Amino acid sequence: MIIVFGSINIDLVARVPALPRAGETVAGPDYAVIPGGKGANQALAARRAGAAVAMVGAVGRDGFAAPALSLLEAAGVELSAVAPVDAATGVAFIAVDAAGENQIVVAAGANAAVRAAALERLAPAPRDTLLMQWEVPEAEILAAARWARARDLRVILNRAPAGPVPAELAALLDVVVVNAHEVLALGAGFGLADGGADGVAAAISERHGLAVAVTLGAEGAICWADGIRHESPAYPVEVVDTTAAGDTFCGALAAALDRGRGLETALEFAAAAGSLACSRAGAQPSIPDLAAIDAAAAILAEQRNPPNRRTTP
Ligand code: RIB
Repeated sequence: MIIVFGSINIDLVARVPALPRAGETVAGPDYAVIPGGKGANQALAARRAGAAVAMVGAVGRDGFAAPALSLLEAAGVELSAVAPVDAATGVAFIAVDAAGENQIVVAAGANAAVRAAALERLAPAPRDTLLMQWEVPEAEILAAARWARARDLRVILNRAPAGPVPAELAALLDVVVVNAHEVLALGAGFGLADGGADGVAAAISERHGLAVAVTLGAEGAICWADGIRHESPAYPVEVVDTTAAGDTFCGALAAALDRGRGLETALEFAAAAGSLACSRAGAQPSIPDLAAIDAAAAILAEQRNPPNRRTTP
């Protein structure tokens, strides 16, 4: 089982010709109301990738709560530890440009009321997985990691949005997932010089004894663990919208590791899933299912190990 401890949002999305600079107004034709939030997106991604998933989070007692949870509910994500609280459901204001790049402003609302104490509603087994991001309070993330460690769970943190991770929390993690920008912010927080994403990931992994996975957009993904560098290319797609591509990578990676896959295979599976999410608009509607991920991952695996290079036993 995967427990996702994190944010639940409604995304208000406008497509614009170009992203606005400071002080600039840009116009788009209309907007869409889409379920999102890094936590909820990752929960759905893990579920669609084949895992049993429980979500721990909070929503308001308002009109956005039901739509925010609708796709999680439809997919069979366990929602008994999602608390209704006296605050507005989290909202993300998202602009997406013609190239599929985005700019996001998040109003935390109910996500600020997420508490690690809600984890007590769940009864995980040893080697289940806790998956977290950074859109709920830091103190609760630390408390959740302690709770998971005490129960021998695998602990995965997606340090997004970007920033440092306290050493005390790093010591509780098995895997940290970041993008090319976030890995530099993470390294800076540990006092590491900017030696490029690859070098910083290697240094964090070595110093803190973690697996450090870095998503690199069209360049695919790398992961440093135990002094070994794993890599996967992206699966080629026509990019429509990159929103939730990183979340899809995280959910799929957690699902593959939870299923007992090795890091190399899990990285390829996650890279395939994250790529596919770029080919459709919106956060949760863009998240691929297991059959689609398996098909894309099989193509990546075949490229890595073409039939004419295979050795026969
Ligand atoms: O990672 C994408 C997500 O970030 C969006 O769905 C939005 O809600 C913000 O949390």
